[in-house]
Amino acid sequence: MRIYHAKDYADMSRKAANIVSAQVIMKPNCVLGLATGSTPIGLYKQLVEWFKKGDLDFSEVMTVNLDEYKGLSRENDQSYYYFMHQNLFDQVNIPVENTHLPNGMEPDSQKECKRYTELIQSLGGVDLQLLGIGHNGHIGFNEPGESFDKQVHCVDLTESTIEANKRFFASADDVPKQAYTMGIKTIMQAKKILIIASGEDKAEIVHKAFFGPITPQVPASVLQLHNDVTLVADEAALSSL
Ligand code: PGA
Repeated sequence: MRIYHAKDYADMSRKAANIVSAQVIMKPNCVLGLATGSTPIGLYKQLVEWFKKGDLDFSEVMTVNLDEYKGLSRENDQSYYYFMHQNLFDQVNIPVENTHLPNGMEPDSQKECKRYTELIQSLGGVDLQLLGIGHNGHIGFNEPGESFDKQVHCVDLTESTIEANKRFFASADDVPKQAYTMGIKTIMQAKKILIIASGEDKAEIVHKAFFGPITPQVPASVLQLHNDVTLVADEAALSSL
């Protein structure tokens, strides 16, 4: 594993965007695995900036996102579809038909998980998968205890996740109770993995995930078994190392 030390959030975003950008330049028709959350926002901003300057071309790039809430429509501003369009897709020249997320409005979980797994395979797999890390070590919606052996699946959100997300919705009842997510096995099949972390609140989990035992209790620890992982983190997130 390579670790890039960044000064702060802005530096982390730029260093990580450089890696994504290198991937797009080296293979213009690459498959990018994308993530949502607060951590990648700066990275996406940087990519948009470079696109606007004429340094990046997304016209042949294909994307697959890690996860999506089940039951949220694309128009819902909490959906990951909405997030990706706001932060990246609507601001660069990627054809919308090249962008893929699990379909949160598909009620048949089995059908949707099969469709999304096959879609990723039909694209030839993910060239570069971007990941954030949750405070409990989750990647995508793979929470502690989840088997390392799963492809795309439907998860029940934990009470704490529902509680944490309540503030974004009119009421707790409106918070989705389930989500579709790439499983650990799907994530591990990516050719390269780029994981980003920022802030002191991530220091302990970054240390556990990359220097602690490999265990389903810390889902991100599985990345120690992948042969091409790059961690880009700022000083605060690396302060426990
Ligand atoms: P964050 O989330 O980027 O909002 O901290 C990380 C994650 O849960 O993957």
